[in-house]
Amino acid sequence: MGLGVITLRPLGTSDISAVVALEEANQPQPWTVGILEGELAADDRSYVVAEDGEVVGFGGVMVVGEEAHITNLLVAPEQRRRGIARQMMTRLIRDAVGMGARHLTLEVRAGNEAARRLYHRFGLAPVGVRPGYYQGEDALIMWVHDIDSPEYFGSLN
Ligand SMILES: CC(C)(COP(=O)(O)OP(=O)(O)OC[C@H]1O[C@@H](n2cnc3c(N)ncnc32)[C@H](O)[C@@H]1OP(=O)(O)O)[C@@H](O)C(=O)NCCC(=O)NCCS
Repeated sequence: MGLGVITLRPLGTSDISAVVALEEANQPQPWTVGILEGELAADDRSYVVAEDGEVVGFGGVMVVGEEAHITNLLVAPEQRRRGIARQMMTRLIRDAVGMGARHLTLEVRAGNEAARRLYHRFGLAPVGVRPGYYQGEDALIMWVHDIDSPEYFGSLN
């Protein structure tokens, strides 16, 4: 796996096995083929994969009314801190606004400092806690409003 140029593209059916392998290697409760197939078939979703020769990251967003929810975001450990998650978030937020979203929310493990910092950079602020949501660890619920405003949308790059 090289540290070459990162390309983003929409997740397709042929990426599912690579994404499941990435999930199984890196997530305590990995997404399955069935979950990914369901997400791909569902309306009001956008899923993206990041590629550097092979799939090195993926993420998704679901839009319900004016609310967008980040459903998953993962980068291969050896590819972290290269801005891949930032690129995927930017793409997902743009897609969500294109589907009518005005606000963005997600849940993150309270102890997940890397993800919390990433989300903070996208203006997401913690507004609540779901106690014990992740196998006993608390989840923070984060929100950012008015993602369709020229100020916010224009700040994405
Ligand atoms: C969270 C995660 C997706 C970040 O992916 P990444 O591609 O490494 O993130 P980026 O390189 O785009 O980082 C963007 C910014 O986020 C913050 N950040 C990312 N990783 C960080 C870390 N380990 N420590 C501190 N800040 C971090 C920084 O502000 C960073 O900007 P900088 O590199 O200019 O300082 C990745 O660590 C991961 O896959 N973790 C496991 C899965 C996970 O936790 N997903 C989120 C679930 S809600």
